[in-house]
Order: sequence, then C-alpha cells, then structure tokens
Amino acid sequence: MELIFATNNAHKVDELRAVLPAGFRILSLKEAGIFQDIPEPFDSLRENAREKARVIHELTGRDCFSEDTGLEVAALGGAPGVHSARYAGDDRSPSANTDKLLRELDGATDRSARFRTIICLCLAGTYHEFEGICPGRISANPQGTGGFGYDPVFVPDGGDGRTFAEMTLAEKGRFSHRRKALDKLVAFLTINP
Ligand code: IMP
Repeated sequence: MELIFATNNAHKVDELRAVLPAGFRILSLKEAGIFQDIPEPFDSLRENAREKARVIHELTGRDCFSEDTGLEVAALGGAPGVHSARYAGDDRSPSANTDKLLRELDGATDRSARFRTIICLCLAGTYHEFEGICPGRISANPQGTGGFGYDPVFVPDGGDGRTFAEMTLAEKGRFSHRRKALDKLVAFLTINP
C-alpha cells in the first residue's frame, strides 16, 4: 500500500521508513510532486494533523497521512507542546529551541517530559487518528549530533541514558512517539486495507 506522508520534514520521513513494515510505502510531498508548505494554524496537535491531511487530500484526491508532534514538559505545565516548533520565536537556528528549554529548566528538579505525536490518516476521504507517546526526561546538556529538533536534550525512559540524538534511526524507533503512532496506523490498515 502506498500513502503520501504530508510533511516537508525529511527527518520524519527517514524515521518512518526505517521502521515501516514490508508491504507499505510512503511518498514524501516532494516525491508526490507537491512543493508547498502546509499550515499548522491550530492550538492542538489533533487539529493541526487533521488540517495537514485535509489540505493534501483535497489537493491530490489520494490517501495520505500527516502527523503533528509536541514536546510536553511537566515542570512547564505541558509547554512547549503544540508550540514546540516556535518555542524560541522566529529564530530558526537549530539550537534556539533547545537553548530556551534548558534555560527554562535551569534548577528544576523535575525534568520529566514526553513527546506526543498525532497521526491523522485520510483513507477514502474519511479521517482516522492515532496517538503515540514517548515518556522521558530533559538532559542537563545537549548530547549527540543525530536526529533533529529536541533530540539532543531528550532521554527516553527505558533506554541506557543516551539522548535520541546519540541513537541510530532504528534505536530511536524502538522508543519513539512517532513509531508508536505509526504502529497503530499500520495495525488499522492491516484490518482495513
Ligand atoms: P512539528 O510536528 O513539525 O510541528 O514539530 C514541532 C517541533 O517539535 C519542531 O521544533 C520539531 O523539530 C520538534 N520535533 C518533532 N518531532 C521531534 C522528534 O522526534 N524529536 C525531536 N524534536 C521533534
């Protein structure tokens, strides 16, 4: 089965391809010949994911899925959450968001956090949602050079203390929010092809 993945983020595409079971194929927006940004105008992951799937389905008429992800930090009342991409404002430098997060958590004893992903599938014009959560904690300092976004400061529960940015794609896939949501999507499509 082939689905368009409504994202322009190559890291997300690579992560899902690394764990996708045989029989499933995903096409990035570029590979599907779509060269446009997709808006994320809402205050919830659910609404943003659905909007991205809706835009691409209306554009192509094809089955597709999208995802929206947020980092929810307990000591910050769940922030940055749905605002994770622009936590440090319009400064798009790779470390601006993580630098701000580490400043906000300076001296905090509770560094627990979780990534939460909502995947929205549009199948024959009907929408279905799947959630994946990865609990963990924010490290004292950035560690590692792999991955993207907040990976250098996120240590998943159940691992060996390394951040996501110190792991291979397959290792991150063993813990990740995105992988857990994908597993639910695949299970759904296996029963509803
Ligand atoms: P979005 O889902 O593309 O809107 O991502 C929101 C923000 O969270 C962006 O700053 C991403 O870089 C970051 N982000 C999303 N997924 C991950 C992840 O798996 N690891 C680290 N950061 C992530």
